[in-house]
Amino acid sequence: MELDITSWLSMAIRWLHLITGIAWIGSSFYFIWLDNHLRKAKDEVDTAKGVSGELWAVHGGGFYHKQKYSVAPPEMPGELHWFKWEAYFTWISGFLLLAVVYYYGASVFLVDASKYAMAPLTAVAIGIAFLIGGWLGYNLLCRSPLGQNNVAFGWVWFGLLTLSAWGLSQIFNDRGAYIHVGAMIGTVMAANVFMVIIPNQKKVVADLVAGKAPDPRLGQVAKQRSLHNNYMTLPVLFIMISNHYPQTFANPHGWLILAGIGAVGWVIRHFFNLKHRGETRYGLVVLAVAGYIGVMALAAYLRDQARSDVTVDANQVSFTQVQQIMDKHCVACHGTEATHELFDEAPNGVIFEAKDVILKYRDQILERAVVSQDMPLGNETGMTDEERATLAAWLKKTETD
Ligand code: HEC
Repeated sequence: MELDITSWLSMAIRWLHLITGIAWIGSSFYFIWLDNHLRKAKDEVDTAKGVSGELWAVHGGGFYHKQKYSVAPPEMPGELHWFKWEAYFTWISGFLLLAVVYYYGASVFLVDASKYAMAPLTAVAIGIAFLIGGWLGYNLLCRSPLGQNNVAFGWVWFGLLTLSAWGLSQIFNDRGAYIHVGAMIGTVMAANVFMVIIPNQKKVVADLVAGKAPDPRLGQVAKQRSLHNNYMTLPVLFIMISNHYPQTFANPHGWLILAGIGAVGWVIRHFFNLKHRGETRYGLVVLAVAGYIGVMALAAYLRDQARSDVTVDANQVSFTQVQQIMDKHCVACHGTEATHELFDEAPNGVIFEAKDVILKYRDQILERAVVSQDMPLGNETGMTDEERATLAAWLKKTETD
C-alpha cells in the first residue's frame, strides 16, 4: 500500500486554512461594510442610551436591526461575541502549511542554489526571521510618529514590504520568496488581532465593568490596526493563490510584479471602502485595471529581457536527446517510479516518459521549463540554458511536423 502522508496532511491543512481564512476575512469585510453603512440612530431613547449608529438589513428570510454604541452600552451584555478565533486559526493553519510544504520541502521549495547555495535549515531560519522581523518592524513603525499619519505610513510599509520581497528573491527560489512576503503580511495581521486589537478591547470592557471611563486611545489604536488589516487583505489573498501562476513569481524581477499586483489590490480595497461611505470613484477602478494591464506588460517585458540567447538548430535535435534531458531533470519527480525524496508520486500524475505524453504536454513544458523556468522545481539538477533551448527546439519542431 502506498500512502503519501505529507500530501494528505498538507491537503487537510490547506482546506482548514481556506475555511478559517474565509471566516476571518469575511467577518473583517462585513464589519468594515457595516461601520461604513451605519446611519445616525433616530429613536431618542436609543440615542440617550448611547447608540451612535444603526442599520437595518434583510438576509436569509429575516430582518436584522444592528446598533452601534460608540463607547459602550450602559450595561455589559451577558454574552459578547469577540471574533478572534478566525484570525488565530488562520495564522496557525497558515504556519502549519508553510511548515509542511515549504519547510519540510525546503530543498526544492525554498532553496535555489543558482541564487544562493544554503542548507535547507538555514533557509527555514531565514524565513522565520523574516516573519518575526516583519512584525517587530511594523509594530515599531505604528508606534513611531509616522503611525499618526495613515497615508505616509501606508507608503513606508508598502516600501518595506517591497524591499523584503526584493531581499527574499535574492536568496530564496521564486515561490519561497513570494510565500514569505504573504506570510509576513499574514503574521502582521494576526498579531494585530492578538497583540493589540483584542487586548485593547479587553481593557475597555474591564474598565466599563469596573465603572471607570475607558481611555479613548485604546479604541483608536485598535481601529487603526483594523484599518491596516483591511488594506492588506487583497494583496495577501493574491499571494495565497500566486503559487498557481508562474508568470508572476517565476520572473527575473518577480518582486516588482508582486509590488505591482499588491498596489492593484490596495486600490481595489480603497475603492470599496470609499464606496461604502457613499463616495464612488470610478477613477480608482480604471487605475486598478490599468495597473493590472501594466503589470502584465511589465512581466512580459522583463522576461523577454532576461531570455538567454542560446540557440539550437532544431534539425540537429533527436528525441533521444530530449529523453536524456528529461531523464536527468524531470523524471525524478515526473516518473512512474518517482525517486525524489519529497515525491512518492508524480506531481499531478504527470509522467514524462512516453513520447506521446511529452507531446501532449508540449505547451505546458515550454511554459514551465523554457519560458518561466520554474521547472525543474528548485533546479537541484542544474538544468542549463543549452538544455532548455534543446528541449524548446525539439518541442517547437514537432509542432510543425
Ligand atoms: C523536484 C520535483 C520536480 C522536478 C524535478 C520537476 N517538476 Fe514539474 N512539477 C513539480 C510539482 C510539485 C508540480 C505541481 C505543482 C505546480 O504545478 O507547480 C509540477 C508541475 C509541472 C507541470 C504542470 C503539470 C500540469 O498539471 O499541468 C509541468 C508542465 C512540469 N511540472 C514540467 C516539468 C519539467 C519539464 C521538468 C523537467 C525539466 C520538471 N517539471 C521537473 C515538481 C517537479
